[in-house]
Formats: sequence, structure tokens, C-alpha cells
Amino acid sequence: MTSIVVVGAGQAGATLVAKLRALGHSGPITLIGDEPVPPYQRPPLSKAYLVGEMPAERLYLRPATFYADNDIRLVTGAQVRAIDPEARRVVLDGEAIPYDRLALTTGARARALPAAIGGDLEDVYLMRSLADADALMPEIRPGRRVVIVGGGYIGLEAASVAATRGLAVTIVEAADRILQRVACSETADWFRALHRENGVDIREGVEVTRLTGGRRVDGVELGDGSRIDADFVIVGIGVAPQTRLAQEAGLDIADGVTVDARARSSVPGIWAAGDCASFPYRGGRLRLESVQNAIDQAECAAADMVGSGYDYAPVPWFWSDQFATKLQIAGIGTGFDRIVSRRDGDGAASHWYFAGDELLAVDAMNAPRAYMVGKRLLEAGRSPDEAALRDPATKLKTLLG
Ligand code: NAI
Repeated sequence: MTSIVVVGAGQAGATLVAKLRALGHSGPITLIGDEPVPPYQRPPLSKAYLVGEMPAERLYLRPATFYADNDIRLVTGAQVRAIDPEARRVVLDGEAIPYDRLALTTGARARALPAAIGGDLEDVYLMRSLADADALMPEIRPGRRVVIVGGGYIGLEAASVAATRGLAVTIVEAADRILQRVACSETADWFRALHRENGVDIREGVEVTRLTGGRRVDGVELGDGSRIDADFVIVGIGVAPQTRLAQEAGLDIADGVTVDARARSSVPGIWAAGDCASFPYRGGRLRLESVQNAIDQAECAAADMVGSGYDYAPVPWFWSDQFATKLQIAGIGTGFDRIVSRRDGDGAASHWYFAGDELLAVDAMNAPRAYMVGKRLLEAGRSPDEAALRDPATKLKTLLG
């Protein structure tokens, strides 16, 4: 019987093992994670969970009994030390587990600020794991002052939660503007205005030079010579794919484990999926950090591992909740040369990314219909007529033809 081992018990790993059973794989399955808890969802960690509006039990992707009921061995709190692709086994402290097929769903690690500039002071928090959220939660109290380093989704979502709870919030973004990595300037403008309306102080284009304090952080010094007092600091400056095991095992790496359209790595018998994997996309390579990708690519890997593979060809999607704005994104805007913007009613906007006549992506703020229409067009490989899209009189649904 074919034995399957999955390293990394996040969204991708949990999806992959469930899919293997759903597809009828009857051999042994082992899922190994280094966190002490069963697989859970991360998105609520910077939203409802952080303010105590969601109990921990609801974070878990599957009920505790799921793994045993499905004859899946779930190993938590365990570090895989090495992979031996020749002998086909993974090595843990005190145990080596043999495999016939292996999947790496090791995810990504939050980047920290260097200790040399105070990144290791107390009361400086990352926002990635359940443990991070649990550590941060008691700090979210009215009247406290937080400096958030990084104006990506982590920083902006944390700012929204903190400002809503009555904290004094400053965001420091090193790039020219917030959301530089993931969104056009029009979308960034929307969120900058939204945060400022809600009292968040956003500083862009300025570096953090030092976190000050004795044992505990008490402030942040910036490259423009200014200083911000802080009771605590949240660092959301991006993630790095966890590829060390794969690299040491000789797998090809290029910003993530290099996989083909079926999630196969360069080494026979090893697949990879989720935040840690870089896959072929529109003639290049893409590594995505999203729930959609974790689920869909893991399912693709599972199918190939049991001999019913298909090519992974996603229309990526994302969402974010900040204050009263719901942002929904379909597609990847990288390489756009034009943005077409629409307003559909009060407090709703959408920005459509084009390269030539081709639609690449849409960012929809409180505009679920724009998101839905954009996503359906992208799935069909179609692009809307730009003039019709620009015309506020055009009903979005008619763009679907
Ligand atoms: P990110 O890479 O999206 O944003 C990091 C930001 O920090 C960038 O704007 C960058 O310019 C800035 N930065 C980098 N170094 C800096 C420094 N030294 N000082 C000041 N600014 C600096 O990553 P983020 O926000 O940390 O999120 C981590 C991961 O979690 C990402 O994959 C993100 O997409 C994901 N996530 C997604 C959410 C969503 O889709 N709603 C919500 C929260 C996180």
C-alpha cells in the first residue's frame, strides 16, 4: 500500500490529506506539523479572533476527531529535521517515517526586524501563528499606543482592529506607499483614506531605523529623524517561504519549491503546494500566499499523488476586511499598464487591471458584483470592453454577455 507523508500542517497540508481520502487513497497517511495544535485557519487571526469575537475551536479546519476517524496520523509539535529522498523517509527527533510519496506544505515564515535594530525587544509581535495572536491579544486595549511596521494586509488589518478598539495606531511603511506589493495605487489610496478617516496615522516612504527601549520596546525611531512612542509594536513586513528542508534534500528552489503544473517538485516522489511552492503561471512562475492557493493547489497535488492529476490553472482570489470595507480581489495585477476605475453606488469602487486589452485582475471595495463579474470574466479568459466598463451607466452583469 502506498504510504503518503505530508510535512506542514497548515491550510494546504490539512486540505491535501483530506483530499487524499476523499479520492479513495486507502494507504497510510501521516500529517506532520510543528505547531502544538491541529490545523487551523489563519485569516481570522488578524480579524475576529484577535478581538475575542471568535473562539479558538472555530479556528480549527476540522473537528479534532476528523483525523482519527479518517485513519490519518496527525503528528503535532514535531519538527522534521531532514528529508532523505534516496531512502524515502523523513527524519524527526527520535523517529524516521518512511514514505512512498511525500508532499511539502511547509508554508511561509513571517520576517522579523533584525535584533541589531531592536527587533528582539519584548512587546514586539509578529502576526502569523495562533501563538502570535494569543500573545498579542492582551495588548489590544483602549488607550494604548501601537506602532505597526509594514503597510501590507497584516499591518492594515491589525491597524483596523486596533483603531476600532480605541488604540492610538501608527503605521510605518518603508516603500513609497502601502500595499505596494499587492495592489495598484488607486486601491492603496482608498485604504489610506479609510485608515486616516478612522484616526490611523500612516507614514509612508520612511524606514524604521531602530526600536528603542531597555528590555521592553518604548518607541520607534524613523529614518526622517522622527520618533514615535509605543507601548508595543507589531511587525508585518512580509513572509519568506519555508524551503530549508527542500533545499537540503536537493529540490530545485526559486522563491519557493519549484513545482510543475501538477505540483510535482524536481525530485521524483515529492510534491509541494501552498505558500512554499512556486508554480508555472502565464509563461512565468508565481508563488502565492493565499487561502485559495493553499486549498486549490493542495487538491491538485493530492489528485496527482493518487494518479488522477490535472494541471493547476487558478484564477487567484483574496479578500480583506478593514473597518467597514470589504475588499475582494480576483486575478493577479502584476504587469498591468492601465487601471479602469468604477464607482457603483455610495462607498463602493472597483479598479480593473489591464495589460493592453486583456483583463488581469479586479480589486473590488464593497462591490461584490464587480468582484463576481470580474472573476467570471477571468475564469472564462475574457476581457470586458473598456468603454463599456468605464461607463457608469453600464450594468456590470451585461459585461458577461
Ligand atoms: P506583505 O509582503 O504583503 O506586506 C509587507 C509590507 O511591509 C510591504 O508593504 C513592505 O513594503 C513593508 N516593509 C517591508 N520591510 C519593511 C520595513 N523594514 N519597514 C517598514 N515596512 C516594511 O506582507 P504582510 O502584510 O506581512 O503579510 C504577510 C502574509 O500574510 C502575506 O502573504 C499576506 O498576503 C498574507 N495576509 C493576507 C491577508 C489577506 O489576504 N487578507 C491578511 C493578512 C495577511
